[in-house]
Amino acid sequence: MKTLITASIRRAAEFIKKGEIVAFPTETVYGLGANVYDDEAIKKIFIAKKRPIDNPLIVHISNVNQIESLVKKINKCAKTIIENFFPGPITIVLEKNDAISELVSGGLNTIAIRMPALELSRKFIDECGVPIAAPSANLSGSPSPTSWKHVYNDLNKRIPCILKGPNCEVGIESTVVDCTGNKPVILRPGIISLEDLQKVFSEVKIYNLKNIKKPKSPGMKYKHYAPKAKVILINSEEDLDKIEFDKNVAAFIGLIKIKGLKKIKRVNDLRDYARNIFDFFRKCDEEKIKVIFCQRVPEIGLGLAIMNRLKKAAHL
Ligand code: TXA
Ligand code: MG
Repeated sequence: MKTLITASIRRAAEFIKKGEIVAFPTETVYGLGANVYDDEAIKKIFIAKKRPIDNPLIVHISNVNQIESLVKKINKCAKTIIENFFPGPITIVLEKNDAISELVSGGLNTIAIRMPALELSRKFIDECGVPIAAPSANLSGSPSPTSWKHVYNDLNKRIPCILKGPNCEVGIESTVVDCTGNKPVILRPGIISLEDLQKVFSEVKIYNLKNIKKPKSPGMKYKHYAPKAKVILINSEEDLDKIEFDKNVAAFIGLIKIKGLKKIKRVNDLRDYARNIFDFFRKCDEEKIKVIFCQRVPEIGLGLAIMNRLKKAAHL
């Protein structure tokens, strides 16, 4: 299959309308989308990505009015998130409407919904005329794609179209929040942080992210975000003295100054860290790096989401 790379929203949407799948940009990571009501198209997503069938998809909307047709009821918890954070890098989980196929929900009776902040994503969804079910547009198991080139490297010849857009401003996947109860539960941390949610809720829970045997967010149980290189988390340059490794095939990403390794990415702040982490993992693999040292950060604010991805990459 030939993969068309286009900047034309209209041309990309035509693929969706004829039952095909399309990779498209969002502010978090690129998604691989299909018409939420077309089971045959949804199946193509799982095949192209080699994604386990029980891992549900996020449904992307361009207008909050579309939520009603996807869920049983929009409760107060969901309303608060919609009012405060939509459109944005956050996903809500609600009880699904019967019209939504179990292929989309991975057999669950709930549905995950997100309205991207990137205008280009919303224009694309608008042009498709239906909500778009989409996981991240990477091969299952590899780091999420934060540029159209990452998508191309993973899925060239496996998908018919990539809608070309900017590199992803956020760089890590959305915050996923379970809204099926009265109180919000963070299933996957993201740039909209626990502290951001605490500003609008009296109580916010975090689902035990380590309970990987029966996670509420099924995606969390799979190996994720991992480059081929070994990932080791460190606190300071001195930590390197305790480890035996070859500097010629070693890399570092973080806020501190480190010298002498083959590849070094010094980030300015946490946003810069999040924006660069997956791209750095991919570049390291391309350059045959064997070990990647990543600086730990305090698990507050965006730091919780960064550490969540780093720990997964380090298999901790
Ligand atoms: O930023 C993002 O969320 C990106 C862009 C494309 O929007 N999408 C993304 O999709 O990261 P994906 O499939 O890679 O991750 C979706 C996560 C998975 O961990 C999945 O298990 C969880 O959301 N999820 C989806 N539906 C769910 C549901 N009904 N209940 C609980 N978790 C759900
Ligand atoms: Mg993913």
